[in-house]
Amino acid sequence: MDKKIILGIETSCDETAAAVVDSGTKIISNIVASQASLHATFGGIVPEVASRQHILAISTVINAAMSESEMKINDLDGIAVTYGPGLAGSLLVGLNAAKGLSFGSSVPLLPVNHLEGHVYATWLNESNKLEEIDFPLLCLIVSGGHTDLALMSAHGQFKLINRTRDDAAGEAFDKAARVLGLGYPGGPEIQKAAEKAKGTEKPFPRPKVKNSNDFSFSGLKTSLIQRAVDKRIYPREDDTCVDSELINEISFAFQEAVVDTLVDRTLKVASELSVKGIIVSGGVAANSCLRSRIEEKSPLPVVMPKPALCTDNGAMIASAGYFKFKELPLTKWDLDILPGLRIGEQGF
Ligand code: KG4
Ligand code: ZN
Repeated sequence: MDKKIILGIETSCDETAAAVVDSGTKIISNIVASQASLHATFGGIVPEVASRQHILAISTVINAAMSESEMKINDLDGIAVTYGPGLAGSLLVGLNAAKGLSFGSSVPLLPVNHLEGHVYATWLNESNKLEEIDFPLLCLIVSGGHTDLALMSAHGQFKLINRTRDDAAGEAFDKAARVLGLGYPGGPEIQKAAEKAKGTEKPFPRPKVKNSNDFSFSGLKTSLIQRAVDKRIYPREDDTCVDSELINEISFAFQEAVVDTLVDRTLKVASELSVKGIIVSGGVAANSCLRSRIEEKSPLPVVMPKPALCTDNGAMIASAGYFKFKELPLTKWDLDILPGLRIGEQGF
């Protein structure tokens, strides 16, 4: 594609985000308005609140991304937007904003799968090991809603190999943090608590699915709840005595169980598929324990986006749009949201 300046728009969950990216690799502007503090009051994402907040923020966020890039709409070669997977009411806001901009400017609309976007955050690294690694790559995508292992055979070519049978890794972190009385989003809170632990609690079991490389985190969540009940820290009453060292140690043991499971399964599948390298992406890829453990244990090169680009942003959507559409497509005006879209699927 010789056309290269792409605006990326992302509203699939609780971040309203827009970015301008050159050639799929160079960030010109990147604006993320997080709703996390709004949802924190409820201990998790409230879909209706998320959707309404996107409506309030979307124009400001897109205008900020455009003005920071010092470009005009007609300087753009494409408008990439997430159309799935995600929360229906949230996806609708970004998709309609992108369609409106595309219609008004005649800049083509590039539909992007959010999960493929997470993988492309890796192409935004300043110095990129990816240039020295050939396809096929194994992608571990670990977010609030997904834990997928996908084979990437070429740009834009993904095949889902394994996934979680129940909770996603990020969801497990969020639920664990809630049980332990830590804040939302739970992943960074569990990481912080684990880093403060002086000793270790009894290890949690490493969850396995019989005869499969799929993931399952719901049993681990139940073990954590049971431990918290036994230690009288959950359910939390007014007179519950909060032993923060105990919470730190449980957080440490829980994080170890999630990280070991993710790393061991990824390395096993990578070896079975004889891939040339591994990409780790999605919000949970910001976890420092996961990042260091997989680099330490992997015999293959491992590439990850920098932590700030692991969580949802518009730059990764712009990058995915650039690499996916070698030929600029004709805008598909009847494009609809696909909340249950899987990696590797187009759905239309
Ligand atoms: O990719 P993302 O921003 O949104 C979705 O597409 O879901 O991922 C959000 C998830 C949340 O569950 C959050 O707790 C988790 O990523 N997360 C982390 C860390 N930072 C974010 N989990 C573990 N450790 C972190 N440092
Ligand atoms: Zn995401």
